[in-house]
Amino acid sequence: MASAILDRIEVTPLSPVMGAEVRGIDLARPLDDAAFKHVRDTFYRHMLLRFPDQRISPEQHVAFSRRFGPLQVHVLDQFRHPEHPEIYVLSNVDKATGGTTGRHPDRGTLVWHSDLSFQRRPALATILHGIEVPAQGGDTLFANMAAAYDALPDAAKRRIAPLRAVHDLDYSRTRAGEPPMTAAQRQEAPPVDHPMVRTHPGTGAKSLYISHHIREIVGLPQAEGRALFEELMAHATQDRFVFRQSWTEGDVVMWDNRCTMHKATEYDAAGQRRTVQRTVVIGDVPV
Ligand code: SIN
Repeated sequence: MASAILDRIEVTPLSPVMGAEVRGIDLARPLDDAAFKHVRDTFYRHMLLRFPDQRISPEQHVAFSRRFGPLQVHVLDQFRHPEHPEIYVLSNVDKATGGTTGRHPDRGTLVWHSDLSFQRRPALATILHGIEVPAQGGDTLFANMAAAYDALPDAAKRRIAPLRAVHDLDYSRTRAGEPPMTAAQRQEAPPVDHPMVRTHPGTGAKSLYISHHIREIVGLPQAEGRALFEELMAHATQDRFVFRQSWTEGDVVMWDNRCTMHKATEYDAAGQRRTVQRTVVIGDVPV
């Protein structure tokens, strides 16, 4: 089927680690089926896509995201957009005064994680729109977990192949210095366990599936489990597996949480404004 959008799409790899920049698409307008299929295939191939210079409303953000699957309404209701609950707002801008709060909005995002790994059906994709971005700092780092898995010694692959880990949002948030979840939030998001190696349902590639939401490794004594977790985390976050996204206003970045981890980085939350909004597409139960 002919597609005027498809003819305009340009894809340029962003780094040898992962990622591609996609130009020629206005995410404010619906994609026809041929253009959508091309975007999805490109997404699977590169794990992360950056669409520069996008001016999208919350409705348009939600509409584009829904093409990939059902959207999450996050259990942490304090971050929900007031009119669009599928949108999670991370901002250091005080709504009442319009000035900065001086505080990073969610320190839980400053550690390596994979979105919604604390749920039975974690995230397929996260789609993050940079609305106001600092001149310095506030980058987002991404680790290629398929490359990290491939580079593990065979003995390590054999050791982790049968292991499952318990992911617990309340645990990771309190460790990051955020207030504990409310009883209702804890009830809505109880801890879950997932395999430490997962197979991507779209590409068949294996990835290391770890995240700072991990509280313990099933069947291992706490100290041994923690040591293994730290070892795998240090391995997976070496520079050779990491891509850095330095934000420009209007960037929309979408990443595949099934084969990547990410973390936000610090910025001057008193002197610089940063507002980003994200949607999260719910994926499959990891296998
Ligand atoms: C996130 O962890 O989803 C947010 C990343 C960021 O703020 O850069």
